[in-house]
Parts: sequence; structure tokens; C-alpha cells
Amino acid sequence: MTLRPLFRTLLPILLSFTAGMARAETADIERRLDALMAQMTLEEKVGQLNILSGETLATGPVTFKGDHATEIRAGRIGAMLNVVGVNSTRQYQALARQSRLKIPLLFGQDVIHGYATTFPIPLAEAASWDLPAIERSARVAATEAASAGIHWTFAPMVDIARDPRWGRVMEGAGEDPYLGSRIAAARVRGFQGRGLGELDAVMACVKHFAAYGAAVGGRDYNSVDMSERQLFETYLPPFKAAAEAGAATFMNSFNDLNGVPATGNRHLQRDILKGQWGFTGFVVSDWGSMGEMVTHGYVKDDKAAAEASILAGSDMDMESQVYGKHLAELVKEGRVPMATLDDAVRRVLRKKFELGLFDDADRFADAARERSTVGRPEFRQAAREMAAKSIVLLKSDGRTLPLSPRLKTIAFIGPMVKPARGNRGGWSVSVPGHDADRETVSQWQGLAERAKANGTRLLYAKGADMMGSDRSGFAEAVRVARQADVVVVSVGESWDWSAEAKSRSDIGLPGVQEDLVKALHATGKPLVVLLSAGRPMVFDWIAEHVPNVAYTWWLGSEAGHAIADVLYGDHNPSARLPISFPRSVGQIPVYYNHFNTGRPATDGKQEEFKSGYIDSPNAPRFAFGHGLSYTSFAYAGLRLSTTRLGARDTLTVSLDVRNTGERAGDEVVQLYLRDRVASVVRPVKELKDFQRVHLAPGEVRTVSFQVDRDKLSFFNDKLQWVAEPGEFDLMVGAASDDIRLSARFELLE
Ligand code: BGC
Repeated sequence: MTLRPLFRTLLPILLSFTAGMARAETADIERRLDALMAQMTLEEKVGQLNILSGETLATGPVTFKGDHATEIRAGRIGAMLNVVGVNSTRQYQALARQSRLKIPLLFGQDVIHGYATTFPIPLAEAASWDLPAIERSARVAATEAASAGIHWTFAPMVDIARDPRWGRVMEGAGEDPYLGSRIAAARVRGFQGRGLGELDAVMACVKHFAAYGAAVGGRDYNSVDMSERQLFETYLPPFKAAAEAGAATFMNSFNDLNGVPATGNRHLQRDILKGQWGFTGFVVSDWGSMGEMVTHGYVKDDKAAAEASILAGSDMDMESQVYGKHLAELVKEGRVPMATLDDAVRRVLRKKFELGLFDDADRFADAARERSTVGRPEFRQAAREMAAKSIVLLKSDGRTLPLSPRLKTIAFIGPMVKPARGNRGGWSVSVPGHDADRETVSQWQGLAERAKANGTRLLYAKGADMMGSDRSGFAEAVRVARQADVVVVSVGESWDWSAEAKSRSDIGLPGVQEDLVKALHATGKPLVVLLSAGRPMVFDWIAEHVPNVAYTWWLGSEAGHAIADVLYGDHNPSARLPISFPRSVGQIPVYYNHFNTGRPATDGKQEEFKSGYIDSPNAPRFAFGHGLSYTSFAYAGLRLSTTRLGARDTLTVSLDVRNTGERAGDEVVQLYLRDRVASVVRPVKELKDFQRVHLAPGEVRTVSFQVDRDKLSFFNDKLQWVAEPGEFDLMVGAASDDIRLSARFELLE
């Protein structure tokens, strides 16, 4: 017997053995859970549903005035957030050991894009369209965080966001449900690794359930009113994908949805999440969101907030303290069934068992492992690669970039050039013993190292501040620019202008930065503009006039190196926008997968009575999926296995992609579909698949996609997931506005 058949014979036995072990473990956990529940008082049960923030850090408005130690010893706290590092987690865990039942604490943390090693902000990572790289980024974050005693990250944030005024677009994967779903699943896999209980895995927490990204006017915490069909079609898919990927927990959201706050929303949490989707993990509220239902005007007081929350399926109370104060009483009064409380408590405790905390509460908190894990050089390397993969080349004249190593002088100008901290972006963790500023490679540092190695002189001028109206630095900047062969100018919004509660009504470049770019442009020198931000900004003049523009978002610890890698072409850019970039705030919301309307406008044509603007095109400045490379690609030979597809058939689509330039590069080949006629109107285009191919100069590769019934389905007006017979347009391209090949096929009855 050769090895392969032997393996084939043994594999089913092995699999059934491991499945058997998993079943035995689950049964064991349930037995231990029953035994523990039987010993718990009502107050101890409620205690498990209470999470409070530690004393040193706050990621929201702290209202708790008591003493954590007393509460933990009394069994009134089940989990904590913002307790960072092995030392701190061990101290708190020691207090839990002094409680009657010694139930270990859970430690949660917003590990949103890295722990000590900071990766690009999630929106930037999403621009990579590189699922294995995104998974690896989450894996590194989990490995570092778990080694520091953290059990649970409040990520991934999977809110679809079509409004860049909303500061939290930076935390998600952009506007598209398909791309968002793939990325959501990749992040969950990355965080949870080989499974809960492994020492390098943390529980994922999928947030914010649901529709938080659709806040009216892009104003954080604002209301959302949307049809059930839009909810299912656009906003829920990434949540469902994350649940299917095995996410351990969910977090609900601050917004009301059609008049019912998400935290008190039985339909979302009980019917959809725990019902239809069969989610067995637990749901934590967002910070204070239970108590805020009083302010919403949904319940009259904190006690009613506790009742509405638990009945709606919110298992754990973050920072409202309404469960701690009222839940036991509500159960005693019969307003909340004991079974409802027990279900919530079991969901929480089950995770503590799965993490192995009942066997050793400090198993994640090992100072030696923390020291040898956090900030490992290979993690820095992964962060550098991820950062380079996240930079989107928006415009290129084909001559200036990549920078030639033979350049004599480069001027590097702008307020973003020297500061290090900003590159880490919002939602980066302050880790004890790590000086974030010192550990972050500034843009200057990255480019200077590289220029020096080439013998190129790098000149600097700040030119202007990020904010304010002071133009006094322009003259110096222009003087410096005149001495250079190429001018690279780095501008943007401040790093703390995006993230929670950082909505902007004007998403242009702040201060006089655009005027600085104009002054440098006027020198006639070859010009490259780098734009740093946590959201799509409006930079219409630059987009119109500057021939080389790259979007650098916030790239994390290795920002400077990654920028140099891309500018010099060591990394050939291949990122694609995961969200449309508007021309003006007035265009918002602008997204590629819109309906056609009855009077579609044609951009560039002056037509009366059309669905357009009289003062702006409909098309965004840069479309979803857009991003350039230092090489070029040609698409040819679209082949469909059939143009008449039976109801149960799968369509195979193939095409040939050729690298027609002189450098190796990655192309992200995108497949879009349009259902031409349906019982409810369908978008003009929907991303259904994509593939990244790496091609050497001149190389041709065949790319294939499978289109199955699922890809042709949508929610009809009865919310049934159906594929309706009829014609479909199939489009393959390099961006949603750069379709290279198309065909039509029919789905038969
Ligand atoms: C945010 C959540 C975050 C939580 C804990 C809230 O204000 O909305 O995304 O996980 O705080 O820090």
C-alpha cells in the first residue's frame, strides 16, 4: 500500500475519532455546566452577565463608581474589558478566586487591528482583497493578545458602511456585502485559529448587530430606518458569514432599527441570530447600550431596560449595570423567566469552559510567553506586508512611480511625514511596556532608510499643519521642492478624526493642505500625493490635477517601510477600493450596487428628466474595486460552460488574464452579475466573486469562477431566498467601473 491510499483509508477513521472526541468534550462541558449552574445563587448567575471596564483605560463613558475588587470577590462581575497585560489580568483573576464559586473572569479587549504590533486599520486591510493576508493579520493579533491574558476581542466589526462621514467606516470592510462577508469570515478564522481553548486563539465578537453602519447622515449612534429586505440583502450577510465561520460571540449596537433599539430588539437577536441562524454563543451589549434605551425613549427606566434587554436576547451587560441592579428582582417578580436567565448564563459559562479557564484560570496569562510573543520580528514582517498590500494606487502617470533608485534628490513634504503615532490609526491598543511612538516606523523613517541605501538625498519641509490656516510654511516647502527631482507630499486627516464618535460633515482635506499641494503642483516637478485617513476623503482638485496619487489610510507599526516598499516598487501595488470615493459630500451615499431607477442618467450627457445631478456626475470619483498597478493586464477569451443554465446546474466561467507590462504583479479579477428582470428590482451590478492572480511579465493565466444557484439568488418580497428564471448579465473586470468582458446567460425554469 502506498502512503496515499493508506492515508485515504485512515482519514475517515481519524476524522470520526476526533469528532468523537469533540462530542465527548462537549458532553463533558455540558455536565460540568449543569453541576455549576446547580450551585449558583440567582445573584451569582446575574454576576456572570456583567462586564465592566478596568481602571486604567476607558473606551466609553465610565459610570461605575464602586470598587472592582469588592464586586469581583462578591461574584458580581463575570468579565472585564480594558485590562491589558499578564500582570493585570492575573491580579483580577486572583480576586475571582476569592469569590464563593471561584468562577474565572473573561478578559475582553478591542483588538481591532493588531495588539502591540499594529496592522493597518480594517478598512485599509479590506482594500487588499487578500483573504489569506487578512486572516493572518487577525491570527497575529490573536496570538499576541492571547499571550497577554486576553480571551476575547471585540472584533471583527462587520458593519456595511456606505457613508464616509461616519467615522467608524475605518473599522469595517466597506460597502459591499459579498466582500464584507468573505472578510468577516476570514477575520473570525484568524482570531479563533484552531479553536477556542488553544493558547493562541481569542474569541471573536462580531459587531455591531445590526445595521449600525446605516446611521442617518453618517452621524454616530444615529437612527436607522430600513426595509427588512435591505437589512437581509445588504447589512446582515457579513454577520451571517461570521456566525457560520463559528464566531463565539456577537455585540449588539447603539442604534435603533425601525424604532426599536438593537439592544432591545427581539427580532434581530432572538428570531434571526439565535433562531434562524442557530447561534449558540452569547451576545454582549455595546457600552451602555442597555441603559441608553431609556434615553432613546424606548423604556421608562433602568429596570425596564434590563427586562427589555434580556427578553430580547442580550446576554451580557457592558457598562450599563442594569442587570446587576435589577435582573435578580425581575426574575423574582416573574417578569423574566428563570429559564431565560439560565440560558444567558449558560451561554457565557460555556465559553469559559471551552477556553479551559475552569481548569486553569491563568492559562493565557503567562509572563514568559507574553515576553517571547508580543512584538516578534515575524509579526512586524507580516504587518509590513499587510500594510504594503493595503496601499491603493489611485492614479499613476506611468513614469514617476515606482521611484527610480537613481534619483538624486527627493523632497518629502507635508504634515504627515514626520509624526509616528498617527500611522497606528484609531482603535490601536496601548500595551504596557511598549512605546507605540517609538515602535512605529514613521513615513520619514521608512523613506529615509530606503533613499539612503540608494544614495538619494531626501529633503524635508512640513509645509503646513494638518489644521488651521497658516500658510507661512508654503514658501519653504516650494523652495525645497524646487531642489528635488521628485516631490512626494503626504497629507490627510488626523488619525483621531476617524473611529467612534468621529463623524464629519465635511470630509475634505482639513486646513490649508490642499493649497499646499496646489503650491507644490505649480512648481511643475513630478508630484506624488499620499493621502492618509481613516475614511474616504473628498479631494477633488488633487484627483483632477495630480498625476500620481496613493491612498495610504493608516497602516500601522510598519507604515513607513510599507510606503517605501510601494513607492520604490519592491511591492507592486494591487489593492482595490472596498468603498466608493465620492466627489463631494453631496453625492453621499454613493455605492456601486445601486438600482437602475426608471430614468437612469448617463454621466457626461446633459439630459432632462433623468436621475442625476445638474451640478455633478453620478459616478463617484473613484469606484468600488478601483486600484492600479505598476504593470497592466489584458483580459480575453471569456468562456461560459453554457448560456442556458438548468435550475440545478453550475456555470463555469473562464477567461485569460495576461500581464502586458514589464513587472510582475497581482491582478484582482472581479466577477459581477446583474439579474436583468426579477420580481423585485436588482442592482445594476453585484460582486459575486473575485480572484487574485500573480503574473510574471508576459504570463497568461486562465481564471475560472463557478456560478451556482446561490450566486443567482436574492431575497424576494416575502424574504425568501430565491433564484428566478431569466436573463443575467455577467461582467468581469478590474473594477466595478472597469468591466473588460461581458456575456449573457439564462437561468431556465
Ligand atoms: C464600541 C464598541 C467597543 C466597546 C468596548 C463601544 O463604545 O461601540 O465597538 O467594542 O465600546 O470598548
